[in-house]
This record gives sequence, structure tokens and C-alpha cells, in this order.
Amino acid sequence: MSATDYAVRAEGIQKRYAGKPALDGFDLAVRAGTVHGLLGPNGAGKTTAVRILATLLRFDGGRAEVGGVDVARDPRLVRRRIGLAGQYAAVDQVLTGRQNLEMFGRLFHLGGKRARARAGELLEQFGLVEAGDEGVATYSGGMRRRLDLAASMILAPQVLFLDEPTTGLDPRGRGEVWDAVRALVARGTTVLLTTQYLDEADRLASRITVIDRGRAIADDTPDGLKDRVGGDRIEVVVDAGGGPRGGREGDRPGRGDRTGDGRRGAAGARAGGRPGGGADGGGADVAGRGDRGGGHRTAQAEPRRRVPAPDRTPYGTGGCGMSTADVSLTGPGRRLYWALADCWNVTRRTLTHYRRRPVAIVWQLGFPIVSVLLYGFVFGEAMAVPGDGDYREFLMPGMFASTMAFGFMNTTVAVVTDSTKGVIDRFRSMPMAPSAVASGRGLSDLLVACAELTILAVTALLIGWEAEGGAPAAVAAFGLLLLLRFSLIWVGVWLGLLVPNAEAAGGLYAVAFPLTMISSIFVAPSLMPGWLGPVAAWNPVSSTVTATRELFGQPVSGGTWIEENAVLMAVVWPLVITRCSCRWRCGGSSA
Ligand SMILES: Nc1ncnc2c1ncn2[C@@H]1O[C@H](COP(=O)(O)OP(=O)(O)OP(=O)(O)O)[C@@H](O)[C@H]1O
Ligand SMILES: [Mg+2]
Repeated sequence: MSATDYAVRAEGIQKRYAGKPALDGFDLAVRAGTVHGLLGPNGAGKTTAVRILATLLRFDGGRAEVGGVDVARDPRLVRRRIGLAGQYAAVDQVLTGRQNLEMFGRLFHLGGKRARARAGELLEQFGLVEAGDEGVATYSGGMRRRLDLAASMILAPQVLFLDEPTTGLDPRGRGEVWDAVRALVARGTTVLLTTQYLDEADRLASRITVIDRGRAIADDTPDGLKDRVGGDRIEVVVDAGGGPRGGREGDRPGRGDRTGDGRRGAAGARAGGRPGGGADGGGADVAGRGDRGGGHRTAQAEPRRRVPAPDRTPYGTGGCGMSTADVSLTGPGRRLYWALADCWNVTRRTLTHYRRRPVAIVWQLGFPIVSVLLYGFVFGEAMAVPGDGDYREFLMPGMFASTMAFGFMNTTVAVVTDSTKGVIDRFRSMPMAPSAVASGRGLSDLLVACAELTILAVTALLIGWEAEGGAPAAVAAFGLLLLLRFSLIWVGVWLGLLVPNAEAAGGLYAVAFPLTMISSIFVAPSLMPGWLGPVAAWNPVSSTVTATRELFGQPVSGGTWIEENAVLMAVVWPLVITRCSCRWRCGGSSA
């Protein structure tokens, strides 16, 4: 068989997490146009293998090819050939099911009309028509799973990775997924399906690789595996010491427990594989018994009934008229077009969030108004201003800048939420422009910033503030404020990818608050005590505040270099911040 007969090939893949091997010389060969099962117990390395093959995770050694493309060398091209449904549903919780599918359809470059039609077809196919226009947050776990699978099948990819696609589904849901997989394969898609259910692998897969402790310990047809074990139940038992172990189910405590001395795969036949054993039984001792019931949940979960292959072509290339491989970006013009289109579609998603949850935008826009009124009237008469100016006049540029500065927290929380919910992984496994994930987020945040500034300015004008420097200078001042927000959006994206969860992101406020407030927002640095003055003067936020004060026609005091060159520094600081955070973001990305 030639190399081109294989849609997926992995040789000697090594992956370590904090020095601990998750994949330890993992081999896999998946024939094109087939369903290949990857069967193994909890912690065996199935998800790690899938994430590596889907370009979401870097690996430490070995070689992997998907659709004939080297995963490490050309991950972008691989993404044009694959679809992925990860182990946990990666769908937008705020949008409706239909909006999710339409958004992913647009990001697959179907265009609005076809994306809408495809969303309708998939909702019908996965039994979600009734719930289609309800928010995903109200869906049950099984409904979310079905929506996630539907999203992975918007197009007919060359290779589809399904990580435990039917876990948590009822028998009808499993049947629907199996039908969908068969229909895709009939149209030429290759499916790599990880599962803990032997019956699922048996029904769908023409070949099964059994994985344990990061190594393939058996690789055969389902019948071949069953022949070797004499039944339709395979139980993978790996001795902690590396040697095959005998014994019946329940003959010693700790079996089936990842932390116990032996591990049991949820899949029938005993494969007493040594960690050092190779694939296809090389070094793996596959033995078994004809235990057809035995209380095993996976063997019992579904009656042994062959689900007939569907004779219709409900979706795939027939449904949408194109496959991921058709989404070719040729020429710089076309590439730019799609980068902008993708960016806008990601932006649309955030704007739809605000439409569906207006209270979020009311709070975001209302808070600055309350702040202006509060600080303006509470501090208004009490705060000293250099040169005996009016405090409210002095305060407004500070309020504008602090609103722009704190906005990065929203970006961080949004990115970390997407990251923990798997939405960023889904985006990254798609053929959309990689920059669109961040730039789309950035654009929507920038639009919100424009709305914030407008509302702040109107409120300020109502309480007597005036932009005395004239209209062009005021426009320049608002431009500098947006530039500050723009740069901090990238800090927000970077932090969002760095912090582990939304709670940790909330904790960042404790750091961001003093960093922003030790600036000239409320008090001129020249009036601050000791070392605080110079620190506040060199704070990038201060440069924007001082520059906007100047442009709004207020005399700027202090006379230090940084204050005299505030307009210049209000441009330089954001550029430096943007450059650094984009660099760190690229350095910190996992693939
Ligand atoms: N992000 C991570 N950080 C550290 N260790 C990890 C991480 N992800 C996975 N691991 C470890 O790598 C090993 C393989 O995990 P993986 O999720 O690939 O297993 P799996 O076969 O998919 O298991 P399951 O059936 O439970 O989904 C496990 O020991 C797991 O603890
Ligand atoms: Mg897994």
C-alpha cells in the first residue's frame, strides 16, 4: 500500500506534559475513506493524539501527516483538510443553535445564504429544529453535543476527528451520529473516532487501534480483535510493571482506576500490553474471553443492532456544495478578503452577544456615566488642580482614558471564556484566517469603545465640560484614546490566552487597578508624593491623559520631558504595547 492510501499517519509521536509522557512513541495509520477507531481507557492519550493531529497541540518528537500534509510543517494547510469535534462541546453558549451553525458556516466561507441553509439542514438532521432558536445555555448536555457534532460536519472534510462523539448521548442520539458518520464516509471523508465503546468502534470502524499509556498496543479489524479474544468484549489491562496480567473483572481492587496498579479500558478483550510493546500486537498480549454481557456498561449500552447505512445524502458536499478542501486562499487579494471577512464574522458574533444579552452592554456603557457623575460631583470641589484650573475640566480626559484602559479586562474575560469552553480550539481547527480570532475580538471591542467614548463625551458636555481646543484637536484626542484601547486589547487577548480561567482573569483587576490609577487620571503627577510622581508621569496611561488634556485645550503643567512630549508618547506607548503583546501572544501559543 502506498503512502497516499493513508489519510492519517503518525510515527513515534512523543508528547510530554510537565515531563510526564502522554504519548510515548505513538503510531497510527488510517486508510483513506474509512472509519478508524482509537480505543483506550481514561488517560490513555486519545485526546492528546487527536489534538496533535488536528494541529492544536505541539508535539515533542515523531512525525505526523494528515491528508498527506506534514502537521508540524504546514498546520494551516492541514486545517483546510480537517473537521474536529473535540471531547467537550465547543459551541457558543450565548448564541442560539442556529446562530452557532450559521457563524461556523460563514467562517467556513459558505457565505450568508448557504450558511443559513446549511444550519437549517443540520438542525433537522440532529433533531434540534425545535430548540434551534433558543440559546445554547438552555440546552441539555446531549443537545450541546449534537450541536457540536453538527458544527464539525458543516462541510465534508477530507479527514474528520471525532473525540468520543457519543459520550453522553442517548441511544437515539448515538444512532443519529452513526448515520451522520456513515453518510460522510460514503462521500469520501476519512473519520478517526476515539471511543471507549467497543460496540461503537465495532459498528463503525473498519480498523481499531487500541491505545494505552500513550502507545498503540494493538491494531486490527474489529473481527480480528474479537477473534483474538473470542468474544465482543475487549478489556485492556496494563500492569503497572509493564507486564501482561491475567484475572477476571473485579478480581482485584483498583482495576479500572487510573491511579490503581492496573488500568482497565472500557472496551472489552484483555490486551495485556507492555508499555514497550509496538502496534499491531507487537509486544502486546491480546487475550480475552467471550463475555457478552458481564455488566460492562459499554457492551450493554446499546442493543447489538446494525444501524443501516443511510441511503440518502442529507449533508456533506451534497448539502452545501463544497468541502473544506475547496476553500482555497489563492493570491494576496483573496487572502486579505477572507481575513477581513473572517474578522467581521468574529466581530458579528460579539455584537450578537450584546443583542441577545443587552444588560451586558447597558452595564458596560452605564458604568462610565456613573463614574463621570460620581467623580465629577464628589471630587469636583475638593481636588486640587495645577494652575487653579477647574477639576471637572481636568478630570474628563482622565475618565476617558481610564475607561479605555480598563476595557482590556472585558477582552481578557471574553478570551479566557472562549478558551476554556473550547471555542478558540474550534476556530483554530478551521480554515479561517488565524489572525481573525483576535482581530475580530479587537474590532468588536473597539466598536464598543467608540460607543463608550461617545456616551462619556455627551455626559461630560451635559455637565458643562468643553473641548476648548477645537474640533480637529478633539478628533485627534479621541483618536489617541482609541489607540490606547487598541493596544490594550492585545494585552487583553494575550492575558486571556495565558490565564487558566475566568476567576483568575477577575483577579487581574487587583493588579490592573493600581497600574492604571498611579497615573495622571485623577491627580497631576507633580502633586503626588515622593517616587509616585515620576512613576505616574511615565505610566503610558498618563501620556494619553496628558496629550488629550492638551488637545482639549487645557494648560499642561509639570514641565518634565515626558509631559512636554505627551502627544508623541501617546502614540509611541500604544505601538510598543501592541508590538510586545502580539510578540508574547505568538510566543505563548500552543501550536
Ligand atoms: N493539559 C494537560 N496538562 C497536563 N497533563 C495532561 C494534560 N492533558 C492531558 N494530560 C495527561 O495526559 C495523559 C493523556 O490524556 P488524554 O486526555 O489524552 O487521555 P484520553 O485517552 O483522552 O482520556 P479520556 O478517555 O479520559 O478522555 C493523561 O495522563 C492526562 O492526565
Ligand atoms: Mg479524551
